[in-house]
Amino acid sequence: MTDRYAVIGNPIEQSKSPLIHTAFAQVTGQDIAYTKVLGPLGGFATAVDAFRADGGKGMNVTAPFKLDAFAYATDLAPSAQMAGAVNAMKFEGDRVYAENFDGVGLVRDVVHNLACPIAGKRVLVLGAGVATRGALLPMLAQSSAELVIVHRTVAKAEELAALGRQHQSGQVLVQGLGYDQLQGRQFDVVFNATSASLTAELPPLTASVFAKDALAYELAYGKGLTPFLKLAQQAGVTRLADGVGMLAEQAAEAFLWWRGVRPETQGVIRQLTVPLV
Ligand code: ATR
Repeated sequence: MTDRYAVIGNPIEQSKSPLIHTAFAQVTGQDIAYTKVLGPLGGFATAVDAFRADGGKGMNVTAPFKLDAFAYATDLAPSAQMAGAVNAMKFEGDRVYAENFDGVGLVRDVVHNLACPIAGKRVLVLGAGVATRGALLPMLAQSSAELVIVHRTVAKAEELAALGRQHQSGQVLVQGLGYDQLQGRQFDVVFNATSASLTAELPPLTASVFAKDALAYELAYGKGLTPFLKLAQQAGVTRLADGVGMLAEQAAEAFLWWRGVRPETQGVIRQLTVPLV
């Protein structure tokens, strides 16, 4: 029997997950069907209950339900606990196992696909929301030299940095700063994990933060040259990336978790890439 999976969100039309997982199933020879579920606002649990009662094996979760999924899960993986949000669920009997693969997907894209090792590098992350929380552990595991989190409310950056220090066993210098404290600092990898690009805004960042040969990485996907990437480009940065690889890699992690086989992601990344212009 064909195993069924789905992505749930509201709206859901825009989701690329069915395309990605269907492509993964083809290249790995897995017999699955992957669909979209429009979850009614306030009706997440009912919609997921129905999918499970129908034999569904697992779901991806997108906005605005990542916190509902966190509450719905019976077994939260450390990744989901750290992020405070869930983006993948696996159903087994009455258990709901929950993960958040965004952070590990991001790091895999940078280190593996973009061939940009983070070890020993100076890393700056803009924003202290769910995306940054989720990326914290996978990034610390890479043993960068520094990991600086910057937020427009410095206390929020400091809080997340303290959480990072608490969870790391290595030597990474973890700091939480305000944007005005970046004066004179330079970084080899700069991630925009704010939601500013969704509204074509620019975080209050100075162009001097980009080191020579830096990588500027926009976590948002498909927005072309966002104000953040434009700033980096104007500062002379030539290594620009958006979150298309992160999207593919988090999906690959979920597929591996569900099916026990890791799909190759290059085909999907090629298909979904929107030029950075
Ligand atoms: P959530 O806030 O639910 O965690 P997120 O998308 O993970 O959502 O995080 C959004 C992040 O982008 C937040 O850190 C937000 O900062 P605030 O907490 O101050 O709102 C940040 N952000 C959004 N727009 C921004 C902007 N124009 N400049 C700088 N940071 C911005």
